[in-house]
Amino acid sequence: MNGDHIKESKRYMLGLSIEQKIKSVQNDLWIECPHSTLAIRMISNMVKSPPQIQAPCMLICGEGGSGKTSIVRQLKLISERWNEKISFFALNENPGNLNFRELLLDAIGASNSVRKKTRPSLPAELEEFITLRRVRALVIDEFHDALLSNRPEQLKTLSLLKGLSGEPYCLSVIGFGTSLARNALRHDAQLLRRYYIHDLPRWNESEVFRAFLAAFEENLPLKKPSCLYESASVKFILANTNGLMDNVVKLIKHSAIVAIKNEKEFIDLDVMREAISNPWAF
Ligand SMILES: Nc1ncnc2c1ncn2[C@@H]1O[C@H](COP(=O)(O)OP(=O)(O)O)[C@@H](O)[C@H]1O
Ligand SMILES: [Mg+2]
Repeated sequence: MNGDHIKESKRYMLGLSIEQKIKSVQNDLWIECPHSTLAIRMISNMVKSPPQIQAPCMLICGEGGSGKTSIVRQLKLISERWNEKISFFALNENPGNLNFRELLLDAIGASNSVRKKTRPSLPAELEEFITLRRVRALVIDEFHDALLSNRPEQLKTLSLLKGLSGEPYCLSVIGFGTSLARNALRHDAQLLRRYYIHDLPRWNESEVFRAFLAAFEENLPLKKPSCLYESASVKFILANTNGLMDNVVKLIKHSAIVAIKNEKEFIDLDVMREAISNPWAF
């Protein structure tokens, strides 16, 4: 077995112990796919457009498990090389239970100097920090969380968002969220008009899905090829995952672990059935 079906940089994995192979399968993996490439290209084009009085904004919309946070993570890495700076924050990572304004200041890096003052008025400090750090965009993961708080809090957040994308900050706000975020934006016609809404699709039977499966397989430490991109596997995977990214990734990972443990060393429909019946029984 020469491992030709595995990409060169990963072939060393065939020499690992069973426990190490399982860990390597369980690690998060990033496979480039057209959904994510398109989303990142749209964000790049938006951030690199000349400053406008009314900065363009975007909502990347997808259900839980569609790959939003993974795109944000990838964007963080890629955008480090851009001249235009992006600040990131996720509303679910909020152990201090800060409100939206405080989280925002945190994300921009302005919180230390600002919080010392009592009840700072947002605009003056923000303007200074945004200009100093050349921040052009704010990326907000779990955007729906910002918009689903109680009504008075929600109104404050909406007005803060409006303020950020207008003068003097002119920040592009790029939210990643579920359709709840889209519905919340609909409450405010003015805000909705500023947002371009882009939907992340589910997988379907297509060349791009076969390419995704082929690329995934090249990263698995299995001695034999599984040919997941062949018609029967593709149909089985779609039927059992509804094409949701998270379900697809879990099914392949759990199946790879079954195939390692039972020494079959490739994934077929039987292995996938076993993985579905109990993903943690290996
Ligand atoms: N391009 C990708 N390549 C490989 N795995 C991915 C990719 N995108 C998402 N995943 C995996 O799918 C799962 C769900 O993705 P996540 O980004 O958390 O979705 P969401 O934020 O929309 O709920 C995670 O386990 C993640 O590692
Ligand atoms: Mg997420």
